[in-house]
Amino acid sequence: MFPCVLNGPVRCWMKHSTSIRAFTAVRPRLVLGIETSCDETGAAVLDETGIILGESLHSQKQTHLDTGGIIPPVAQRLHRENICRVVQEALDRSGIEPNELTAVATTVKPGLSLSLGIGLDFSLKFVRLHEKPFIPIHHMEAHALTVRMLHPVDFPFLVLLVSGGHTLLALAKGIDEFLLLGQTLDTAAGDALDKIARSLSLRNHPECSTLSGGQAIELLAKEGNQLAFHFKTPMGQMYDCNFSFAGLRNQVTMAIKKKEREEGLETGQLLSCVKDIAAASQYTVASHIAKRTHRAILFCKSKGLLPQHNPTLVVSGGVASNEYIRQTLKIVTDATGLHLLCPPPKLCTDNGVMIAWNGIERLKQGKGIMSHTEEVKYEPKAPLGLDITSEVKDAAIKVPPLKLRINS
Ligand code: KG4
Ligand code: ZN
Repeated sequence: MFPCVLNGPVRCWMKHSTSIRAFTAVRPRLVLGIETSCDETGAAVLDETGIILGESLHSQKQTHLDTGGIIPPVAQRLHRENICRVVQEALDRSGIEPNELTAVATTVKPGLSLSLGIGLDFSLKFVRLHEKPFIPIHHMEAHALTVRMLHPVDFPFLVLLVSGGHTLLALAKGIDEFLLLGQTLDTAAGDALDKIARSLSLRNHPECSTLSGGQAIELLAKEGNQLAFHFKTPMGQMYDCNFSFAGLRNQVTMAIKKKEREEGLETGQLLSCVKDIAAASQYTVASHIAKRTHRAILFCKSKGLLPQHNPTLVVSGGVASNEYIRQTLKIVTDATGLHLLCPPPKLCTDNGVMIAWNGIERLKQGKGIMSHTEEVKYEPKAPLGLDITSEVKDAAIKVPPLKLRINS
């Protein structure tokens, strides 16, 4: 149906469509963004004001839910099978021809090697064919800057990124200038929620079979009693801004096993208290994230790193679409006088729009635009900015207690 540049002759870009944009005198700059760093194949065409002209997204979520987690070669195969169609759909919906694009921006780091490779190979063939500049994108920078597409947020601002692959706090000083204040020492918040959901067999719950682990936990927690179980908030004695979710996951798994024994359940059967465990887990994740964020705010204030006028906390990444976690963070920002901004849930999870927007930001500042692509490589591991986590640790800021528990 769509001959793909990865497999054979490049014909899918040759379709004829007349676009009035081609004939206007001042043509806005247009960027095609491509995302394949994990388990979403995304593409979008944006103009320089941030208007989304066309987008398309193929999620692999259901396949990975069925297999109990992301298997990298499976993710790679699905990206390969879908990338041409997804890009073609984004272009068709935008009414833009490849020759009208100003540049192509693609995630090249960090992420799963096999997934990143598909997006990068495809993009390099595309830009060489159409003789377009290429803008390599850092996936976490893209998450951090998406908010600027919708709100005029000036630098510097504090950013919390919470996804399935990452949990970190950073100060965004410019489009490619970040100070890393803290990050997870083991697993990411979203990954922990996904694994807790799997231990609870939430795939077998009638309302959760198509939801990601985090979404399923948020949904069930609404009707659960968060006080029915007590899980210890991680790293209470560590006065830094790092995170850890592996121990919490372990606490929850042990509680689940104990209850399963008590209720005499077979693997895959649902516990009677599944909603309570979801609520207590969500509360503990939210409280851990909120406490580290509170310390990051106090650290930035003590060092004069945030502006006096309208200091802002931006929260993004898949887990940031969790309303309970957003509300918990609002308690922290209200107490510290920060403004809280979260992109809409659709832009918090991985997508092509955020990559295209990062391309626009780079284009406007003339940063990282490549006309020769021979040297471009993907990088599975890529830190975000300058790591000052040890300086944060040395400051050992004590966080005053806040009532973080809210009704779920
Ligand atoms: O940003 P994202 O789409 O992909 C990564 O870069 O990881 O984030 C996916 C993660 C998954 O772990 C998923 O369970 C979590 O975000 N997530 C949520 C919610 N929606 C997605 N976690 C908590 N509450 C949600 N509503
Ligand atoms: Zn992401």
